Amino acid sequence: MEITASKGLRGVITVAPDKSISHRAVMLGSIAKGKTVIRNFLMGADCLSTIDCFRRLGVPIDIEGGQITVTGRGLRGLKAPRQLLYTGNSGTTTRLLCGLLSPQRFDSVLDGDDSIRKRPMKRVIDPLRKMGARISGTGDGFTPIAIEGADLRGIEYEMPVASAQLKSALILAGLYAEGTTTIIEPKASRNHTELMVNGFGGSITSENNKITVSPAEELFGQEITVPGDISSAAFFIVAALIVPNSEITIRNVGLNGTRTGVIDALRAMGASIQIEWSEGGVEPAGDLTIKHSQLHGTEIGGDLIPGLIDELPVIAVAAAFAKGRTVIRDAEELKVKESDRILSMETELKRAGVNVHATDDGLIIDGGSPVRGGSFETYGDHRVAMSMAVLAQAAEGKSRIENHQCIGISYPEFFETLKAVQL
Ligand code: S3P
Repeated sequence: MEITASKGLRGVITVAPDKSISHRAVMLGSIAKGKTVIRNFLMGADCLSTIDCFRRLGVPIDIEGGQITVTGRGLRGLKAPRQLLYTGNSGTTTRLLCGLLSPQRFDSVLDGDDSIRKRPMKRVIDPLRKMGARISGTGDGFTPIAIEGADLRGIEYEMPVASAQLKSALILAGLYAEGTTTIIEPKASRNHTELMVNGFGGSITSENNKITVSPAEELFGQEITVPGDISSAAFFIVAALIVPNSEITIRNVGLNGTRTGVIDALRAMGASIQIEWSEGGVEPAGDLTIKHSQLHGTEIGGDLIPGLIDELPVIAVAAAFAKGRTVIRDAEELKVKESDRILSMETELKRAGVNVHATDDGLIIDGGSPVRGGSFETYGDHRVAMSMAVLAQAAEGKSRIENHQCIGISYPEFFETLKAVQL
């Protein structure tokens, strides 16, 4: 894909529907009683992997346009799959399914693509075993993963990493366990699972990073409208900030407080981002208006990290155009995403002439010098690909994004939306 720098970005857009919420809506809809209708569902490859797995578990799921209808089978209604469950590139599908399949009364096997096979699953396998699960990975906890259905008991578990995927796996297991499950997070991570389980009639309480899950008797199908994904919006937010002569409005972006770290971090860098809140959705949402801004360096670390973990690659691009030094720390989780995002972004930003150094837990970027276009690699990582496409909007000269197809994992219409706002 060839990209030339943009003369300005202007207009009103919507972005891809939220990936995290889309996955969870299919999963909870599948184990609820009655129909779940999901509007504005993300038709990206990851969420389609979730649909495929649940169809293999015997759940009727109809797709019509952007609307999905899940005919829920009830908590005990999933069927033994005849083949292995293939989760593609999706960490969310893989980890949440580990939690959901462990307490079933049948056996299953999970596997994914080459990237999934490198991602750590021990973090879910260990606590699930403590709950009584019979689950085992390959080597030191990688896919393929074999699960033999077992009766689980609630535990109290202090998570060693702040991971919403791990937390959600334990919540789903906890719905089936005997007694309550208590999960303690080191830092608050996205809470879509907690909110949605309660929306389906379950009972989860949360206080000071301590989540208490009661076993569910029954969940009930719901109507869900998925807001725009702030992680997808982040690419357009940064593009508008770094391309001179830009002003865009992004309508209906999900603004759950566990996800809005990117707005806080960019504002701390001098970004002009206005929020117009909207009423009435299941989760907070609103319209964002972003104007080109002269950015300056900042420090991002500690409790801020889980709230912007997926946005760090594109924040690193913003930092390349910001005056002064940006330090990203406490973000070692970036190493175990779809690619090692510390290494991927260091390598590609260097290719663009950016003064960047990888550290053990993040990146140090000295921004403000000219950024050059070039030929950029994606490592099969959708967020690296889109980050470099954003950089190319404001870089000198032409760029090429190699193997850009991975963008379809979370944002199949990324380039169409980009074209719609380019002057
Ligand atoms: C996700 C959680 C995050 C995020 C991923 C989606 C989720 O991972 O990086 O893209 O939907 O729960 P962790 O919180 O597990 O690190």
